[in-house]
Amino acid sequence: MSAAAKILVIEDDKGIADTLSRVLLEEGHEVAVERRGDQGLARAGRDTFNLVITDLRLPGLSGLELVRQLHAAQPRLPIILTTAFGTTETAIEATKFGAYDYLLKPFDMPRLIELVRQAADSNRLMCEPVSLGEAGASDALVGQSAAMQAIYKEIGRVASKPVTVLIRGETGTGKELIARAIYQHSERGGAPFVAVNCAAIPETLLESELFGHEKGAFTGAHSRRIGRFEQAHRGTILLDEIGDMTPGTQVKLVRFLQENALQRLGGKENILLDVRVIAATHRDLEAAIGRQEFREDLYYRLSVVVITLPPLRQRREDIAGLTRYFLRKHGPALGHAEPSIQPEAIEFLQAQPWPGNVRQLENIVRKALLLAQSYTVTVDHARAALDKTAVPDFSAKRAFSEYVDDLLAAARRGELADAHARAMGAAERELFGRAIAEAGGNQAKAARWLGVTRVTMKAKLVQFGLYAGHDSEPD
Ligand SMILES: Nc1ncnc2c1ncn2[C@@H]1O[C@H](COP(=O)(O)OP(=O)(O)OP(=O)(O)O)[C@@H](O)[C@H]1O
Ligand SMILES: [Mg+2]
Repeated sequence: MSAAAKILVIEDDKGIADTLSRVLLEEGHEVAVERRGDQGLARAGRDTFNLVITDLRLPGLSGLELVRQLHAAQPRLPIILTTAFGTTETAIEATKFGAYDYLLKPFDMPRLIELVRQAADSNRLMCEPVSLGEAGASDALVGQSAAMQAIYKEIGRVASKPVTVLIRGETGTGKELIARAIYQHSERGGAPFVAVNCAAIPETLLESELFGHEKGAFTGAHSRRIGRFEQAHRGTILLDEIGDMTPGTQVKLVRFLQENALQRLGGKENILLDVRVIAATHRDLEAAIGRQEFREDLYYRLSVVVITLPPLRQRREDIAGLTRYFLRKHGPALGHAEPSIQPEAIEFLQAQPWPGNVRQLENIVRKALLLAQSYTVTVDHARAALDKTAVPDFSAKRAFSEYVDDLLAAARRGELADAHARAMGAAERELFGRAIAEAGGNQAKAARWLGVTRVTMKAKLVQFGLYAGHDSEPD
């Protein structure tokens, strides 16, 4: 999730400051500009920002000194340095002092936007408090079921110990929220919290993103890069979607967990680090081990403490509380100062399967609030909100790419968690159905066209309800 951020730009060149502001404003962020280093530092102390972007060479106070002082005062405030070619060494030094990252001038705008998004997200993870049980304005872990109470206890028990924690659960069950809660309740709450989504970073880049690299380590490695582990020194790293990490990177991670040390790609220096690792995944790691996609030694290293979030359908008693919580959370912004809901509407919500879990429930509550305008939310509103987000269906006459559009949209909204299985199923059904029809029911012929065995042909026809009981005519 990413939201608009309040960003302080410290830059003495008016042209560059204007360009930066324009791009950031277009992205929906709020921007303030200071032209001197000393004034920038003062401003950051006076107002609250989610992110600082500062030039390295500044009048008043150098960017490097600014990073040092600002990071000491506000360790949770990400600082991105901008630097002209030729001063990259200094920028790299700055990442050791706690700068979040650096950007080369002239700016690669998509990279700038992505980096800002990541840094703002990191600030949100660190700063927006998560309370156990509802409390005022903060994000809260809601749910009084026995399963959730056991999880709150577990968080309390493990937060202050520096052990590795693995958080498991289906999509939308609250894994990221739990990771934030553990970080915030730990003794490392004031130190950096670095989150890396292993599924979002191309596999060729993930290793250098995590472990860093030396100049010339591979084609395109024009300068040294400090990895996320180094940035998380004395703090916490969240390896989200760890089930999507490739075996090569897994090997390096095992070694890091064993030795608390790493070498940057292409480097020889052994860098000792103190980093607490929290990992999360919605994948079935045991099955992935069976398929040799996930290393067993890594699995054991990660499983020191495992917190497993049950799917929402297995704790239906939490649905009423969550619904009321989301009504209060989103009501005011949607024009409901004091939102209300019919008991029947809650019963209706309690009966749903929730494949997208809490995230899906939150989306549906928001939609129902919109439909209800300023009135009480009724069963009809709840049902209409769910219908609106009904899982897309693939009918024979539809373009497959359109179907994929809808599936991905629903998946992004957290309304389904099996887009791959659905798309593959739909494609197969179409393929087998068409083949058998065009082969006039001759299974052997259809099988040969598709390059599958007759056993597979028959099994697929049975699976899709297309099996006529016999081969219409022998080949
Ligand atoms: N117990 C809970 N109480 C309140 N809100 C919750 C709870 N669990 C989840 N949420 C909310 O549901 C949404 C999804 O949660 P989160 O992002 O933590 O899920 P996730 O398990 O990390 O999902 P994914 O596997 O898709 O990344 C968030 O907006 C979060 O605030
Ligand atoms: Mg998540």
